[in-house]
Amino acid sequence: MKTVLSGIRPTGDLHLGNYIGALRNFVEMQHQYNCYFFIADFHSLTTHPTPENIQGNVRSVLAQYIACGLDPEKATIYIQSDVPEVIELYLYLNMNAYLGELERCSSFKEKIRQHPDNVNAGLLTYPTLMAADILIHKANFVPVGKDQEQHLEMARTFGNRFNRMYGEDYFPEPQAFNFGKELVKIPALNGAGKMGKSEGESSTIFLTDTPKQIEKKVKRAVTDAGPTEPNSPMSEPIANLFQLMNVVSEPDTIVFFKEKYNDCSIRYGDLKKQLAEDMIAFVNPIREKIEAVMADEKNLNRVAEMGKEKAKASAGKTIREVRELIGFKPY
Ligand code: TRP
Repeated sequence: MKTVLSGIRPTGDLHLGNYIGALRNFVEMQHQYNCYFFIADFHSLTTHPTPENIQGNVRSVLAQYIACGLDPEKATIYIQSDVPEVIELYLYLNMNAYLGELERCSSFKEKIRQHPDNVNAGLLTYPTLMAADILIHKANFVPVGKDQEQHLEMARTFGNRFNRMYGEDYFPEPQAFNFGKELVKIPALNGAGKMGKSEGESSTIFLTDTPKQIEKKVKRAVTDAGPTEPNSPMSEPIANLFQLMNVVSEPDTIVFFKEKYNDCSIRYGDLKKQLAEDMIAFVNPIREKIEAVMADEKNLNRVAEMGKEKAKASAGKTIREVRELIGFKPY
């Protein structure tokens, strides 16, 4: 069985974009692949070296994973810092990661532009840590968005370089996992861009949002002045609202509002009211599940412990083998 691995930094609550773009698909994948889903808490130190509530944030993301249907019995769901073996692999990979290639990485360039006062070595070697995450379980596939493609490419480079250097075809080449036609973009509510942190919290529907919060956000979504000619093309903000409807509403509802748009009788207030209602119906069961999972602290601890055991078994095996390949005495 092929191995799939995915990581997420615990920088905030998960949103509809995370659910549709990734989590919903992970639920299916855990039956077909040997899956590792982990929370990259070490990675968050690269930009937040003194985290305020790292354990709380990690716990929320873990609970949200479980609530979305990730099954700790099937997949290995773990917290990166529970598996310090990854740091040892990070060290070995860093010995063969060159300053030039790390400096050329676009996420690094972007980060030093944003935070010129905190250009630390952890930030520079972010791609090596990510490569260690992937290679430590010998992952075959990594579901990644466009923004992570270069990191994945670097993981391939580091894995191949290790194999060459120590003369064994040890690490498989991790490939991007494509959900194919399942790939649906979830737009933000501000008329432009993708849902997520960068477009702001008021433009993003979090899985933890209450009906009131959803209603308020949808009500304030950006629109335009309205169609003035029949069958006129949609502006981006309006197309985005329909795109969200595609995710949460019934086909009949969508047809109904499209017709109203096309004959210019649409009232955006009605469209938003319907969208809010359908959005609430979609998110509410997930939010309730998150609350239930969060409330059962004992179970959440058990889940984390189970993930840790499974991840450590796999990571420990790799580290033993890697030590042997390099020539160290066994661990
Ligand atoms: N860099 C990823 C992100 O910001 C998070 C991440 C860390 C990751 N390690 C990983 C993703 C390994 C996939 C595989 O989204």
